Amino acid sequence: MPQASIRPYRDSDLDDLYRICLQTGDVGEDATSMFDDPQILGHVFAAPYALFEPSLAFVAEDEVGVGGYIVGTLDSRAFEERLEANWWPALRDRYCAPPSELPPDQWTPDQRAAGLVHVPPTVPDELAGDYPSHLHLNLVPRLQSQGLGRQLMNTLIRALREQGSAGVHFFVWPANQRAISFYRHLGFTMISADGPVIFAMDLRPARLGYLSTCGPIRRSASCKARSHPACHQSGLTDPNAA
Ligand SMILES: CC(C)(COP(=O)(O)OP(=O)(O)OC[C@H]1O[C@@H](n2cnc3c(N)ncnc32)[C@H](O)[C@@H]1OP(=O)(O)O)[C@@H](O)C(=O)NCCC(=O)NCCS
Repeated sequence: MPQASIRPYRDSDLDDLYRICLQTGDVGEDATSMFDDPQILGHVFAAPYALFEPSLAFVAEDEVGVGGYIVGTLDSRAFEERLEANWWPALRDRYCAPPSELPPDQWTPDQRAAGLVHVPPTVPDELAGDYPSHLHLNLVPRLQSQGLGRQLMNTLIRALREQGSAGVHFFVWPANQRAISFYRHLGFTMISADGPVIFAMDLRPARLGYLSTCGPIRRSASCKARSHPACHQSGLTDPNAA
């Protein structure tokens, strides 16, 4: 069987990103049965990255088709502003905000995702300074455990470095122990496990970091970023998320 390979995102991959986002949207497992709207997760956690920062989007593809992606943004603050101007307004017209009379823990998965459309994730100041970039990585089961997660991460880290990123962070829901072990294995530093787990890596050129032989630089920063649902697994389950 031909091996899967990594390539840059193309416009024609957008539907695949939506599909993969949904198929990995329940703490890394298939969330298809949880949602009435199959696109709403991808509106938050996949599509805007590919549309607004395509140079930081890559896919894994085999003979069946595209089955994995990594998407990122160089400057999370600037990305938030860009989406506020050009992405969320149309979606807010399309998706009602969750009912205010219901507490968030009673919202449906669709309502929780719609809540993120109306109150999008924002990166805490503690992270935006040292680790301004962030990312999302997902592979469908068919393409897992073949080295593609590592390859996708290598590819994005290289692109972030080339674009001058000082550092990258991302969130993982604590229930996703498999992903947490994977990111530890890759050498990311867990900078907080207080609520959603936060991993980070220093990418400044003078430092030894990812892809080096000596492992990542460890920072002492302890981030209290409990409310950020940047990983869609956490976005659906974190009571602070919406
Ligand atoms: C988590 C995920 C990205 C990992 O990607 P993957 O392609 O399965 O992992 P790889 O095959 O690239 O593994 C790379 C390395 O990590 C190791 N590894 C993989 N999973 C691991 C785990 N759970 N614990 C420890 N090490 C792990 C592999 O042994 C391999 O080691 P080596 O390169 O040193 O030999 C992928 O399984 C996935 O997309 N899961 C579903 C969606 C998800 O949870 N995404 C993360 C959301 S935050």
